[in-house]
Amino acid sequence: MTQLTFTTERSSNLVSDIEREQILSDPGFGTTFTDHMVTATWTAEHGWHDAVVREFGPLQLSPAAAVLHYAQEIFEGMKAYRHEDGSVWTFRPEANAARMARSARRLALPELSEEDFIASLTALVQADEKWVPAYGTGETSLYLRPFMFASEAFLGVRPAREVTYSVIASPAGAYFKGGLKPVSLWVSQDYARAGDGGTGAAKCGGNYASSMAGQIEGADHGCDQAVFLDSATHTYIEELGGMNLFFVMKDGRLRTPALTGSILEGITRDSILTLAKDLDLEPVQERIEIQEWKDGVVSGEITEIFACGTAAVVTPVGELRWDGGSAPSGSPEGGGEVTRAIRSTLLDIQYGRATDTRGWMTRLV
Ligand code: PLP
Ligand code: COI
Repeated sequence: MTQLTFTTERSSNLVSDIEREQILSDPGFGTTFTDHMVTATWTAEHGWHDAVVREFGPLQLSPAAAVLHYAQEIFEGMKAYRHEDGSVWTFRPEANAARMARSARRLALPELSEEDFIASLTALVQADEKWVPAYGTGETSLYLRPFMFASEAFLGVRPAREVTYSVIASPAGAYFKGGLKPVSLWVSQDYARAGDGGTGAAKCGGNYASSMAGQIEGADHGCDQAVFLDSATHTYIEELGGMNLFFVMKDGRLRTPALTGSILEGITRDSILTLAKDLDLEPVQERIEIQEWKDGVVSGEITEIFACGTAAVVTPVGELRWDGGSAPSGSPEGGGEVTRAIRSTLLDIQYGRATDTRGWMTRLV
């Protein structure tokens, strides 16, 4: 695999200290971006080259670029966390590198080595270190968005022979404004997010485009998010548009839908399955019917439900609604005890407040 060297060309057009501090005091999610970005190019002829950290700004793209027509694109989502001693760390980047490589294979894009992937994050966060929010400012971090797309100007349908890799960074607060207020979910019965043999297990833009009609339908019914079912039988729970799901059972099991090929293999999901044993929970991955949810929150068999992902960490799930009915909240107001314990266990590792016994953290600065 290639070993890229990321050359840094420092921007001469930096956001002022005052303006940056103002942004960092209330960053929201995904609306403001740092001073720099990473770009690298791959061609079938020369492989990966021209890896550079440069001023954040518009990309030059032909209107014939294949990504705009055939959606040959993948991305990742991760965060850089400031620790109390000022150092900056990220969580399980090897897992994101491996997932991006799997996504690349599914979308017929070139792979980037784990070393090059982590080097790209390190180079960007070192250039934009001042954009990582201070320790102790709540759930704030620098969200990192690596992505790769077909930049070749060609309208024939085949894997692009020119591809661009980029990383941008965006200071982030809580993904959901309501804090630990349970999110209400709409059961999307007509729209599936992904299907058997499709791209559901890859982190590609197309999956998010296909989730939006269900999301709109949910919003029209007063719900915060949509939950997607399997496309074949519309019976089994899969995941949300951007998060995996967990069910805390009265008997101490912590259940999550098994990976079927159409669910994204979340790194938060995997970490929670690992942490479960420390919290005396029995992790179970299996197919779960939507009817079990409806029945379980009524009978008390299900005591808590939460969604998880990098952006939203761990978020309690509230009421479930569908065409013709609803089920009571899967979580107490403010989230259940187990939900809050898992959330703080994870955040304590990420912010360096707990010992990282599993080697999950990688220092960037
Ligand atoms: N499922 C989908 C569809 C997602 O977009 C995400 C977010 O990345 C997740 C699950 C959670 O994955 P992770 O925990 O790796 O962020
Ligand atoms: C993430 O959690 O990082 C995601 O990618 C979810 C969403 C913002 C797409």
